[in-house]
Amino acid sequence: MAKRNEKGSLFLVAALAAVIFVLAAQATPAVAVGYTDGDKVQKVVYEEVMNVKEKAAGFIRLAFHDCFVRGCDASVLLLETPTNPAGQTEKDSGFNGGLRGMEVIDIIRNRLLANGTKISCADAVVFAAREAANILSNGNIKYPVDGPGRKDGVVSSVDDPPKFLPTPSFTFKQLADSFGVFKFSVTDLVALSTAHGIGVFHQTPIMSSNVSKTASTYALAVAEEASTSTNGAGVKINVRDMGEKARNISRYRPDGVNMTAVGVLDNSYCNANLQNMVPFDSDFELTKNGTALKLLNDYKMDAKLWKTDFEAAMTKLSNTLKAVGPLFEEGYRVKCNATNYDSYPRPK
Ligand code: HEM
Ligand SMILES: *[C@@H]1O[C@H](CO)[C@@H](O)[C@H](O)[C@H]1NC(C)=O
Ligand SMILES: *[C@@H]1O[C@H](CO)[C@@H](O)[C@H](O)[C@H]1NC(C)=O
Ligand SMILES: *[C@@H]1O[C@H](CO)[C@@H](O)[C@H](O)[C@H]1NC(C)=O
Ligand SMILES: *[C@@H]1O[C@H](CO)[C@@H](O)[C@H](O)[C@H]1NC(C)=O
Ligand SMILES: *[C@@H]1O[C@H](CO)[C@@H](O)[C@H](O)[C@H]1NC(C)=O
Ligand SMILES: *[C@@H]1O[C@H](CO)[C@@H](O)[C@H](O)[C@H]1NC(C)=O
Repeated sequence: MAKRNEKGSLFLVAALAAVIFVLAAQATPAVAVGYTDGDKVQKVVYEEVMNVKEKAAGFIRLAFHDCFVRGCDASVLLLETPTNPAGQTEKDSGFNGGLRGMEVIDIIRNRLLANGTKISCADAVVFAAREAANILSNGNIKYPVDGPGRKDGVVSSVDDPPKFLPTPSFTFKQLADSFGVFKFSVTDLVALSTAHGIGVFHQTPIMSSNVSKTASTYALAVAEEASTSTNGAGVKINVRDMGEKARNISRYRPDGVNMTAVGVLDNSYCNANLQNMVPFDSDFELTKNGTALKLLNDYKMDAKLWKTDFEAAMTKLSNTLKAVGPLFEEGYRVKCNATNYDSYPRPK
C-alpha cells in the first residue's frame, strides 16, 4: 500500500486556486440537471454499480479524488503515455493508493454507448458516485447532479494530488483551508467526511501515529480486524461494521446507532468520531473546531439533517470546476484510461 506524501504543499494551493477559479468561471453549463428515477442513463449506472456493490464505496472516494484535482475531469483515471511516463501520473500518487472501481467506469460508458448515449468519463465518475451513495444508503441518499456534459481532461500529473487533496495528518485548519480552496464550507467538510462511515482503509491506522488522539481500545480493534483481513481487503473504516470480536475489543458505544445496518451509508460516522474511533487524525480533528463539533453532534442526533447536508455537499462536489479549455478533449475520451492523443495541446 502506497504511503501518502505527508508534505502537502498548502502554499501551492493558494497560487493554483487563482488559476482554477478562472477556469471555473468559464465553465460551460451542463446540459441537464438531476436524473430522475427511470432515466435511462441513471438506470444503467445504477445497475453497473449494483453489480460491484462490494466495492461501491470506492466510487465515492474516486469522485472526491477526481473532482478536487483539476475539477471533475476523470484525470485520475489516466495511465502513463509516451510523454507522461510511469510514476508521473496523477493515479501514481500515493494519495490515490487504494482507489478502486476505476475499471467499471469504462463498462458504464461502453454500455451506454452501445445504446446510443454518449457521456464523458468525467460524467461517469460522478454518476457512479451518485448511484453508489444511493445503493449504500439503501435508497436514502438521493441528490441531483449536473450533466452529462463534463469534459474529459488531458492532463495527469503526480504532482497534482498533494496540492489539493488533504492528508490524514492535516489539522482542522489545514482541512478547512484545503476545502476552502473549492469554496467548501465547514459544513461541507464535516458532511463529506461522514463518507468515512463506509468502505475500507489499508494504511496503518492513525497515520500521523499520534495514538493518544485515538481511543486505545479502537486501535486494538483495528489490529484484530487487520489480523483477519485477507488479500489486502483492508479494515472497515466504520467501527460499527467490524466483526463482533473487534467491536467488543473497541468498547464502542452504539448510542442510538442502528447496529444491524452493517455496511450502510448513514450518520453512524459521527457517533464513532465522537468516541475517537476513527482511523485518521483528519477525522478526529473535526472535533477540535466548535462549529464542526456541533455539526457532528447534530448529525448524530438528526439523521434527516445529516441526509440534507450530505446530499447538498455531494451535489456540490459533483459539480466542482467543470472542465473547459485547451486542457481538455474536444470530444470525449475514447478509453477512460488514455487521452485520445499522446501529446497535448493539440491543434483546434
Ligand atoms: C477530509 C480529508 C480526507 C482524508 C485525509 C481522507 C483519507 C482517506 C484515506 C487515507 C482512506 C483509506 C484509503 C485506503 O487505504 O484504501 C480513505 C478512504 C475513503 N475515503 Fe477519504 N479522506 C478524506 C475525505 C474524504 C471525502 C471528502 C470523501 C468523499 C466524500 C471520502 C471518501 C472515502 C471513502 C468512501 C473511503 C473508502 C474507500 C474504499 O472503501 O475503497 N474521503 N480516505
Ligand atoms: C437501450 O435503451 C432502451 C430504452 O431506452 C432499453 O429498452 C434497452 O434495454 C437498452 N439496451 C441496452 C443494451 O442497455
Ligand atoms: C498528539 O496529540 C496530543 C493531543 O491532541 C497533542 O497534545 C500532541 O502535541 C500530539 N503530538 C504530536 C507528535 O502530534
Ligand atoms: C461480544 O460481547 C458480548 C457481550 O459481552 C458477548 O455476548 C459476545 O459473546 C462477544 N462476542 C465475541 C465474538 O467476543
Ligand atoms: C436498521 O438497519 C436495518 C438494515 O439496514 C434496516 O432494515 C432497519 O430498518 C433499520 N432500523 C431502523 C430503525 O432504521
Ligand atoms: C472553525 O473553523 C472555521 C474555519 O477555519 C473558523 O472560521 C471558525 O472560527 C472556527 N470556529 C470555531 C468555533 O472554532
Ligand atoms: C485501459 O482501458 C481499456 C479499455 O477499457 C482496457 O482494455 C485496458 O485493459 C486498460 N488498461 C489498463 C492497463 O488497465
